[in-house]
Amino acid sequence: MKVLLVGGGGREHALAWKIARSPLLTKLWCAPGNPGIAAVAECVPIGAESIEALVAFARERAVDLVVVGPEAPLTLGLADALGAAGIPCFGPSAAAARLEGSKTFTKEVLDAASAPTAAWARFEDPAAARDHVHAQGAPIVVKADGLAAGKGVVVAGTVEEAEAAIADIMESRVHGEAGASVVIEECMMGEEASFFALCDGTRAIPLAAAQDHKRVGEGDTGPNTGGMGAYSPPPAFTDAMRDEVMARVVEPVLAEMAHRGAPFRGVLFVGLMLTATGPRVIEFNVRFGDPECQALMLRLESDLLPALAASAAGDLSGVSLRWSADPSLIVVVAARGYPGPVAKGEPIGGLEAAASIPGVRVFHAGTARGPGGSVVASGGRVLGIGATAPDLRAAREAAYAAVDALDWPGGFCRRDIAHRALGAAPLGAAL
Ligand code: AMP
Ligand code: GLY
Repeated sequence: MKVLLVGGGGREHALAWKIARSPLLTKLWCAPGNPGIAAVAECVPIGAESIEALVAFARERAVDLVVVGPEAPLTLGLADALGAAGIPCFGPSAAAARLEGSKTFTKEVLDAASAPTAAWARFEDPAAARDHVHAQGAPIVVKADGLAAGKGVVVAGTVEEAEAAIADIMESRVHGEAGASVVIEECMMGEEASFFALCDGTRAIPLAAAQDHKRVGEGDTGPNTGGMGAYSPPPAFTDAMRDEVMARVVEPVLAEMAHRGAPFRGVLFVGLMLTATGPRVIEFNVRFGDPECQALMLRLESDLLPALAASAAGDLSGVSLRWSADPSLIVVVAARGYPGPVAKGEPIGGLEAAASIPGVRVFHAGTARGPGGSVVASGGRVLGIGATAPDLRAAREAAYAAVDALDWPGGFCRRDIAHRALGAAPLGAAL
């Protein structure tokens, strides 16, 4: 099977590593990839959002399956364009990708499916939004309705904070047109978990759950990021919760999407709040999470490729996946300054020493080739340092030992990944 993987971050490195182990694979390309991915795939210099160029490449090379990592190409219609060219694609159509692109659409689908989620209201008028906040009181959650790179959400502890969020999003348009309308939600309380289900348009099979660490600072402080670390499985998410989420969220939402003429194929990422009354949906994404995907791929024992192909072909019957009982943990190493502006081009040493620690796997995210074949930083989140071990504590020790083997003064990480399961980690070296 000839496969084209789209994307170039840590999630795609983990997918590429796993796909490359499939006995069904004959050739793997990745567009655009990164230096880590280049060890297992041929990287081609096509941007992940260059829809026409991706379709042309897939057609020329007679690709059997395109696997899409990030959401942007999906919302731009890559799956539709490939479908029109007769090329199977793992990932939803643009119409189904609205589950990530539009918060209002998602809330309407959740309500139609009677799935548990926060009460909500949508406003195009800032004055009406303020009146609603005054009527509801705090805590309350204010969200830009459109895509805002994961940054358009304010969990307001006070009415004043909520008013400031409305002003920033709707009047100052700090997230651009994504702030033309806002969704204001009831604030749910509990621990968060990310659950993933593989879908074929009508059926779904559960993958696994992970817990992300979205804030940049230890103890969940500071600004939101794309994710500073993850581990799987989170002990707070029980098998009973998984069954409940499949029955009350994933299956009814799939039925509702099919009913709306936008059947969902691909991986449904269910962001959950584990509240006192059970798991409730915070949001959907239409792709694997990053770094959650890295944690999942380290635990997946089965061949991933036939499962992705079955989802793309619309027939998951007969697919079942085996997961290792050993937990996995990912520490994201980011460039100092992230999630703000970062320096690029600094060389990263110690990658081989890190990768040689037992149980450790190093995934590249924002890396590039520098002078003399060196690896340099080229983005905000630069590496995902993954580890598996028979217990989570040992996985964490291995991952941080690998972090400490790196030689990159410009990098930093959170030292408390998995603190909800394990408590704080012992302090290590500076990085
Ligand atoms: P989102 O971009 O929708 O995932 O929101 C980002 C973060 O905001 C989530 O991971 C939660 O921590 C928080 N959040 C979003 N919606 C709610 C809600 N209704 N109640 C409590 N926290 C929320
Ligand atoms: N780690 C969160 C995300 O991928 O959206």
